[in-house]
Amino acid sequence: VAMGGGLELALGCHYRIAAKGTNVALPEVKLGLVPGAGGTQRLPRALGVEAALNIIVSGEPVKAEVLAQVPGQKLFDQVVEGDVLPVAIALADRVASVRPLPRVRDLPASHPNPDAFFQFARNTVKAMAKNFPAPARCVDCVEQSMKSSFQDGMRYEREAFMALMFTPESRALRHAFFAERATSKIPDVPADTPLRPIARVAVIGAGTMGGGIAMNFLNAGLPVVVLEQKQEALDRGVATIRKNYEAQVKKGKLKEDKYQQRMALLTTTLAYADLKDADIVIEAVFEEIGVKEAVFRTLDEVMKPGAILASNTSTLDVDRIASFTKRPHDVIGTHFFSPANVMKLLEVVRGKATAKDVLATVMDLGRKIRKTCVVSGVCDGFIGNRMIEQYSRQAGFLLEEGCTPAQVDRAMEKFGFAMGPFRMGDLAGNDIGWAIRKRRYVEKPGMRYSKTADLLCEMGRYGQKTGSGWYDYQPGKRDAIPSAAVVKMIDDHRLALGITPRRITDDEIVHRLVYSLVNEGAKIVEEGIALRASDVDMVYLTGYGFPLFRGGPMCYADTIGLFNVVQAMKRFAANPLDDASFWEPAPLLARLAAEGGTFS
Ligand code: NAI
Repeated sequence: VAMGGGLELALGCHYRIAAKGTNVALPEVKLGLVPGAGGTQRLPRALGVEAALNIIVSGEPVKAEVLAQVPGQKLFDQVVEGDVLPVAIALADRVASVRPLPRVRDLPASHPNPDAFFQFARNTVKAMAKNFPAPARCVDCVEQSMKSSFQDGMRYEREAFMALMFTPESRALRHAFFAERATSKIPDVPADTPLRPIARVAVIGAGTMGGGIAMNFLNAGLPVVVLEQKQEALDRGVATIRKNYEAQVKKGKLKEDKYQQRMALLTTTLAYADLKDADIVIEAVFEEIGVKEAVFRTLDEVMKPGAILASNTSTLDVDRIASFTKRPHDVIGTHFFSPANVMKLLEVVRGKATAKDVLATVMDLGRKIRKTCVVSGVCDGFIGNRMIEQYSRQAGFLLEEGCTPAQVDRAMEKFGFAMGPFRMGDLAGNDIGWAIRKRRYVEKPGMRYSKTADLLCEMGRYGQKTGSGWYDYQPGKRDAIPSAAVVKMIDDHRLALGITPRRITDDEIVHRLVYSLVNEGAKIVEEGIALRASDVDMVYLTGYGFPLFRGGPMCYADTIGLFNVVQAMKRFAANPLDDASFWEPAPLLARLAAEGGTFS
């Protein structure tokens, strides 16, 4: 590879020879920067302005042999098959007496139609990278390579680099880069822990999740057997998998023969005996402890020794599920997100008995199916959903105080979320939260919730799947249309509570919702449910549409300053319509704020 500083170093040399297959890139833009050691000034001179700009703005690697085809390129003197060293020595012999030696800086950077080209580049970049300043600065720097002397261009690049270095966006991207790598480090599970071989996968349940989970393994070339109770359920599940693949084939994202290869890896069964060869089984049946119990008792009888027994439960106690077997050390949670074949996040739930090699094997398997795996301890909702419950509670209070769902969603989407809380509820199904709240009313009768979400469900408005939720939906479309009936329901409820609505700013909406996540996140870190604060950020970046340019909730709180976060929480606590206990800072947050510390 010749990436970033490596490529820039090579560009400072008199000659360059690459081995075929070398990956060439200037990936700095992915960290919110411009290349900082002359890349934006030398690459356009060596490769031409257009090809260089593409490399610098995208940050994507390109093969040396592809770049060698660029007309008039001076990036590579030779691209060789095999060993570069003898070819390099031969070249050095040939040029030993050449004077003056060629320098990239002395080459001209030019474009036949620079103004139109840079205008086009600026427009494209603006549309693609609206929340990130670095790509536009890359365009500026490359433009300087044409307009200025080499020295002035270098100075310009340096200034752009230094200015970007201190932007919150670059800080967020660098945070996410290291956070992603940190997720796989588990303090008491060494990196060289021997793994259990995984060659065959079984999935139980071919519903929404089971089908998507199976697709992940088929995509990775692993044979999968899916078990259901009834043939119709199997047929439905397989038909959905086919439909998903066929949509990809239609869009040109998957080749027909690959599709057939993947389907050939899939088998179905109604008999547990057919699972006995599987190295891992992932259960995705109904979310009821009785159903899980029956499944795990059977698995304990039929699965071969050493097989990993995983549950995709989203709310149930993995330790309890493990206790249904005589091999709790082989039991683990694998919490996929819907749609399971698309979403990057996989919460790997470590039970109190889960064996270290089981954990290491599942983390490794997760990487093979290209998930971002984050370890979570056992607790209600694990990392992501435990936090989202507080966020949803707070969103409910906002409705009672005067907001409409559309106003809250707009504010959160402007902040950068892929979707505000109410559109998200409509997508996931409002009945899921309803079921959880009903349980909470019994378990924690003192905990306050806004009734609006229950009233919504009583109206039968479960979300997109029922054609209406917080919003109305037209058949076959996903556009959220504000609903007069829902606004009236909220108004009536507010009136019944005797609350006079007030105008709430976007700023207040955003901070109440994001700090709800931060406070619960701090508890999760302190309890050891998450291994580190940056793991919480990865969960939110990859599973919940938190804006990447803000680095995740914990990183965002660090950027704002934890002292400021706690001050804001004190203000929220003083609001009689909010819940003062809700805003009691988590001990970790309070301590860090007092010390002037940060989560990361
Ligand atoms: P679903 O209702 O779409 O699918 C469940 C499937 O399991 C059905 O096809 C059913 O026929 C089958 N099934 C039920 N009992 C069975 C048994 N004893 N043996 C074999 N098959 C059986 O449910 P969904 O949404 O796929 O959820 C499955 C699990 O995944 C649940 O534990 C749920 O909490 C969890 N989950 C769901 C997410 C979602 O967004 N839907 C996200 C993450 C986890």
